[in-house]
Formats: sequence, structure tokens, C-alpha cells
Amino acid sequence: MSLAPETYDELRAIGARYPEARSGLLPMLHLVQSVEGRITPEGIEACAEVLGITAADVSGVATFYTMYKRRPVGDYHVGVCTNTLCAVMGGDAIFERLKDHLGIGNDETTADAPGQRSVSLEHIECNAACDYAPVMTVNWEFMDNMTPESATTLVDDLRAGAEVSSTRGARLCTWREAERVLAGFPDDRADEGPSAGPASLVGLEIARERGWTAPAADGGSRGELAGGDRTGASEASDTSRAETEVKIDESPADTKHRDNPAKGQEAR
Ligand code: FES
Repeated sequence: MSLAPETYDELRAIGARYPEARSGLLPMLHLVQSVEGRITPEGIEACAEVLGITAADVSGVATFYTMYKRRPVGDYHVGVCTNTLCAVMGGDAIFERLKDHLGIGNDETTADAPGQRSVSLEHIECNAACDYAPVMTVNWEFMDNMTPESATTLVDDLRAGAEVSSTRGARLCTWREAERVLAGFPDDRADEGPSAGPASLVGLEIARERGWTAPAADGGSRGELAGGDRTGASEASDTSRAETEVKIDESPADTKHRDNPAKGQEAR
């Protein structure tokens, strides 16, 4: 069954945010997931129709990114980071425990049960939150410094419909609601929670203590270390940067680089 007229209106509204409507395809696909619970053939057709491109074009994007799901997702999509750092810090143990506890495997969803919310499980390769390893996500919100025990308590609370908050973010909503936010329709929870936590701010504190500053935005001045506290590593880095700057200066604007084959063709 094709999507409702209101959904078509919202798809068009997303496309209208961009100079080229096609740039809105990613949020449009999130809207499809919020309405359909996954990327359906009807959702692909709707995006293609609104953008005037082929279903194959849309499908190529929807199958490339792992955030787009071809199978139904639960009310709560639980991700467990099993990339190297999280894995050795306990991510592998958490993932094994959750598979046992929920009775499902990777990319699977718990069966519907009366009075219970459904949960799907996915192992994720690095959430870019390694300072809080092992890290989980629920509907893309962070759950930091997890253990097998806290992970099972978390999914039990989710299934029971208890209110749960991300450790660094908002109260958790359902997956479909989160997908609508990713489509660009805010739920006014963006400012809930502490956002950046202490572990992410350690580097900033050290820089402040030592008086380190960032390079000027125009590239005209390099950051200096206070009190002559320059290490061999930073001096080596400066030397390397100076060499790079010389190379840039020596590189004429019409240089044909190998990573741009089209330009290489023109040069022949
Ligand atoms: S390795 Fe898990 S967040 Fe980076």
C-alpha cells in the first residue's frame, strides 16, 4: 500500500529544505522508517517519485548505510559496540549476554508479547564514543560504561516500558520517534541531559592547564605551548607541517592529482 498523502507532503517538505531536493534523500529515508518501521518498497517508490529519480537510485542509498533497515525493527533498537576497544573492555561479553537474555541473534527482534515493548539487537563497529567503553546505544542515544549486568537491566526496563534516559542525552523515545527526529522533525528533547561528559573533556582541561591554544583559523599562526613546554613530538609535528606547507606552496593550482581521475583524463 502506498504511503499516506501526509507522508508525501512531509517528504516534499524535506526535499524543499535543500537547494537540490535530492540532497534530502537521507532524512527522507529516516521519515520512511518512522512511518513504516523499516525501508519498504513503497517507501522507496515514494522517495523516488518525490525526487524524480529511479527506485534503483533510492535503493542504492538505502542499502549502503547500516542505519537503514530492510527488516522490521523493535520499539527499541539496541546497539552494542564490539569494535576493538569496547570488545576488550566488555562489549563482546555484553553482546553475548544480551543474545542469551533476549533469545535473539544479531539483527533480530524479540517477538511481540502482551504488555511488553520489543527490542532489536545489533552489534555496532565503534560508536565514536570510545572514552566511555564499553558503549551501547538505544535508538542511537549513548549508554556509557556498560556491563553485562547493567545491559540486561536496561533491556528489561525498556521492554517493561519504564522511562529510561541516555547517560549523556535525552529520555529515550521509541525507534520510530527517533527516526522522525533524524528526518528533521524535532521532539524538543535535544537539550535534555549533560551532552559532553567528563571523559570527553579531559583533553580540554589539560590544554587549559598548560595554556595550549589552537592554530588561528586563517592558518597564519600556529598554536604555541606555554612556558616553553615543547616536546620532541610537537617539534617533529611542526617540522612535518612546515614541509607540507612548502609542498603546498610549490604545487601549482592546475596540478593534476592521481586521486582525481577525471582531471587526469583532461590532462592527456
Ligand atoms: S570502540 Fe566502541 S565506541 Fe569506539
